[in-house]
Amino acid sequence: MASSTIWMSLLLIVFAVSAAAAADESESESKEFVVTLDHSNFTDFVAKHKFIVVEFYAPWCGHCKKLAPEYEKAASILSTSDPPVVLAKFDANEEQNKALSSEFDVKGFPTIKILRYGGSVVQEYKGPREAEGIVTYLKKQSGPASSEIKSSEEANFIVDDNKILVVGVFPEFSGEKFENFTTLAERLRADYEFGHTLDAKVLPRGDSSATGPLVRLFKPFDELFVDSEEFDVDALVKFVEETSTPTVTLFNKDPKHHPFVIKYFNSPSVKAMLFLNFSTEQFDAFKSKYHEVAQLYKGKDLIFLMGDVEASQGAFQYFGLKEEQVPLIIIQNNDGEKFFKANIVPDQITSWVKDFKDGNVQPYRKSEPIPEVNNEPVKVVVADTLQDMVLKSGKNVFLELYAPWCGHCKKLAPILDEVALSLENDADVVIAKIDATANDIPSGVFAVKGYPTLYFRSSTGNLLQYDGDRTKEDIIDFIKKNRAPAATVKQESRKEEL
Ligand SMILES: *[C@@H]1O[C@H](CO)[C@@H](O)[C@H](O)[C@H]1NC(C)=O
Ligand SMILES: *[C@@H]1O[C@H](CO)[C@@H](O)[C@H](O)[C@H]1NC(C)=O
Ligand SMILES: *[C@@H]1O[C@H](CO)[C@@H](O)[C@H](O)[C@H]1NC(C)=O
Repeated sequence: MASSTIWMSLLLIVFAVSAAAAADESESESKEFVVTLDHSNFTDFVAKHKFIVVEFYAPWCGHCKKLAPEYEKAASILSTSDPPVVLAKFDANEEQNKALSSEFDVKGFPTIKILRYGGSVVQEYKGPREAEGIVTYLKKQSGPASSEIKSSEEANFIVDDNKILVVGVFPEFSGEKFENFTTLAERLRADYEFGHTLDAKVLPRGDSSATGPLVRLFKPFDELFVDSEEFDVDALVKFVEETSTPTVTLFNKDPKHHPFVIKYFNSPSVKAMLFLNFSTEQFDAFKSKYHEVAQLYKGKDLIFLMGDVEASQGAFQYFGLKEEQVPLIIIQNNDGEKFFKANIVPDQITSWVKDFKDGNVQPYRKSEPIPEVNNEPVKVVVADTLQDMVLKSGKNVFLELYAPWCGHCKKLAPILDEVALSLENDADVVIAKIDATANDIPSGVFAVKGYPTLYFRSSTGNLLQYDGDRTKEDIIDFIKKNRAPAATVKQESRKEEL
């Protein structure tokens, strides 16, 4: 879903700041440990490896440049581990490499994948981006998915306060249930830690006399551990994913919450978000009330996050919210509709969420103010005028959805001006633009995957995406070819004049 992608990138702005600060600028040594692959040798090389890591990058990507020295350092360290782990890179921007990178569903840069068993199993890399973190993460990923826990020292070392640990307790390490547990661990190893033990006494929490088979999930929040005795693989996956989601996900600058925040935003459920200043006295009152409400809706397709204003600039920008509106609550449903209440107090939360559930809250739309003058060749559209100026205007509208920071959009601006000037005398054609970051764009109408996104809507309602060259001539040709025939337009407008 496009909106969740945008969401993620905005949140990552916050996450990236700390990573960037730690990045090492020093040049790497002359010997390269990272293996270069391209379309001619990728498949053969990968096929020879039981475990290999591939970074899909683009030469122009800043995050890739930042990662390069760290990735190289990790590759040099991992080249001496036993067995050695190979790190490779693949220029996904190179024309001949593009087919392969789309096969791997590479959408942003850098994208790092772990390829197992000659490439037959592909897993997203979800580890850190500095050398030491990369090494630790990959050592773990290249080892067994679940390791035996023999002592309480080991258990205490693994069960810490920022990750989920899933432990299988078995009377012996064999049989179908053990196999199913192993399958579970293989499947979810990128996101959770797994262990197995013969003795529940070594575990820090839960019934220590249990002999199993059972699965005990440890988490750093809510009830702290949960048991399950269902061993169907899909049921196990569901158990882990459901019980590892906090009742209320916390979002502040503390990185230990970030894996849960990412999980929250990747969830298909309807999302309720309460933003406030975590340093205010009222924090505890909000927290306990919000928990109560979240508990009430558990398992009902509504999930809860509480965000600190200090860490939520990305979210504020995305939703068009202002700091003076906090404490505020906003709910986003799967159609991209938003529901919003500013300056809420703890006692209003329960009833407002109930009103939302009952369908008694009107959706909120982010819009820039309607411009008072709009007489430039390229007309300015905002969310509040999108219907009137584009969707119900009865005109042929060529619309640019842009972002203020986007370089390609800046390059296109003078070209669009020229297009608009050339077509100035055609009253049935409008060239327009909308800032898609400051205005809500109905996702059911326009698919915005990057900037600029260009659409053409004919006066008869035909909606086409423009993928042609961004030249004056090509755009004008396209408009002339796709606009509703002038004759019918004229007749209709004459009719209106009568
Ligand atoms: C793959 O081909 C590229 C381009 O010819 C080359 O630079 C690279 O070293 C090759 N990699 C391997 C592992 O053979
Ligand atoms: C193991 O998982 C398979 C596949 O999900 C399932 O059919 C089977 O019943 C499970 N075995 C046990 C003992 O639960
Ligand atoms: C949050 O509250 C604290 C304490 O009242 C204050 O110092 C801080 O500036 C506030 N932060 C924001 C972003 O309003």
